[in-house]
Amino acid sequence: MSFASTLVQGKGVGSDVGVALLGHGTVGKQVLRFIGDNGDDLAHRIGGRIVVKGVAVGNPDKHKDDVPAELLTTDAEALIERDDVDIVVEVIGGIDYPRKLILKALNAGKSVVTANKALVAAHSQELAEAADKAGVDLYFEAAVAAAIPVVGPLRRSLAGDQVEQVMGIVNGTTNFILDAMDTTGADYDTMLKKAMELGYAEADPTADVEGHDAASKAAILASLAFHTRVSFDDVYCEGISKVTADDVEAAKQAGYTIKLLACCERITAPDGTEKVSARVHPTLVPRSHPLASVSKSFNAVFVEAEAAGRLMFYGNGAGGAPTASAVLGDLVGAARNKVHGGRAPGESTYANLPIADFGEISTRYHVDMEVHDRVGVLAEVSKVFSDKGVSLRTVRQEESDDSARLIVVTHTAREADLAATVEALKNLEAVTAVNSVLRLEGE
Ligand code: HSE
Repeated sequence: MSFASTLVQGKGVGSDVGVALLGHGTVGKQVLRFIGDNGDDLAHRIGGRIVVKGVAVGNPDKHKDDVPAELLTTDAEALIERDDVDIVVEVIGGIDYPRKLILKALNAGKSVVTANKALVAAHSQELAEAADKAGVDLYFEAAVAAAIPVVGPLRRSLAGDQVEQVMGIVNGTTNFILDAMDTTGADYDTMLKKAMELGYAEADPTADVEGHDAASKAAILASLAFHTRVSFDDVYCEGISKVTADDVEAAKQAGYTIKLLACCERITAPDGTEKVSARVHPTLVPRSHPLASVSKSFNAVFVEAEAAGRLMFYGNGAGGAPTASAVLGDLVGAARNKVHGGRAPGESTYANLPIADFGEISTRYHVDMEVHDRVGVLAEVSKVFSDKGVSLRTVRQEESDDSARLIVVTHTAREADLAATVEALKNLEAVTAVNSVLRLEGE
């Protein structure tokens, strides 16, 4: 049977499940290829055959060598509306246009599988409500860390446990850059250029290097882990573009490596209120921590739960085939539900936790500064920390000709107290520069 006919013909394994594929880029191509190559296996796993009813693209000419002509269309809305389409797979990207299409599909009673993290992180409530109202599935495993199963485990496997913390490397581009800086000692600009040459970074790398991509994923992870709603705008976000070769070297000397971490946790505010916090920032991780060994463009998500203890999910967090793997897993799930009845677990946001102010979170800090090399400076600097209630764990001094570099690692402190400390340090005559302030996790 030819590739084209495998896609379009049913073969008598239960009922057919009609699928509309929206988008035929890096991920869409792989989804279609896999359905074409493995249609028989998928049919047995589902109990019905996946039949692709159409592939919506912007410019059919660009896709005519890969997609049977009868499947290509520019009219995504008409494709979604077809009576023989049961499931809509969205792999277009962007926010406004796919949002409109996905809402159309859900409102028409079609289950949706999407890889779109930015959309899910920004509009989860609207999408979940539409799915609930129609009684259909909304799956988005591929939105977080591509092939790595983490949405499913949080939604299902850990649904009976109490998740305490989720901490992850969820952006491959920044992990490639930071890992290369750590390994070679090169600076950020050099390694960003290299990442672009090797195809790890996009022509406009802003969403990756400034942490926006990871922040969308953090919002999704925090929502699932803590049964609450966290949106992209609720996530504190700092990227890696200001991380210097000096920061990486100083971290190395102190036994750490720098990673862009998404940290999601439930915290208890001083007044006893339970809150949720999600943040993305460059973070010092002890070199002995499992996340420290995540190299190149790999992703890993570390989950700590009351009964399960510590779990780590590791693998390919980007790329056409790995992302398609997650999309296909969701497609099989949605198709099984279509054939056999039932629904995937929907949204669970009963905890309804307020978002913690960033100043309320507590962690440890690595503060790197230049100071005058004279009598009493150490005492003046340590007084600033103690005045703000920030306790010092280690202090390291490196001398140069007429000044000294002081690197302080603190005990756990509140972000607001640390910020006040840094402001006071900047105003201290003895301190000529605060080179960097980096947070520390994983100890
Ligand atoms: N651009 C992302 C990354 C992959 O570098 O990990 C898609 O989210």
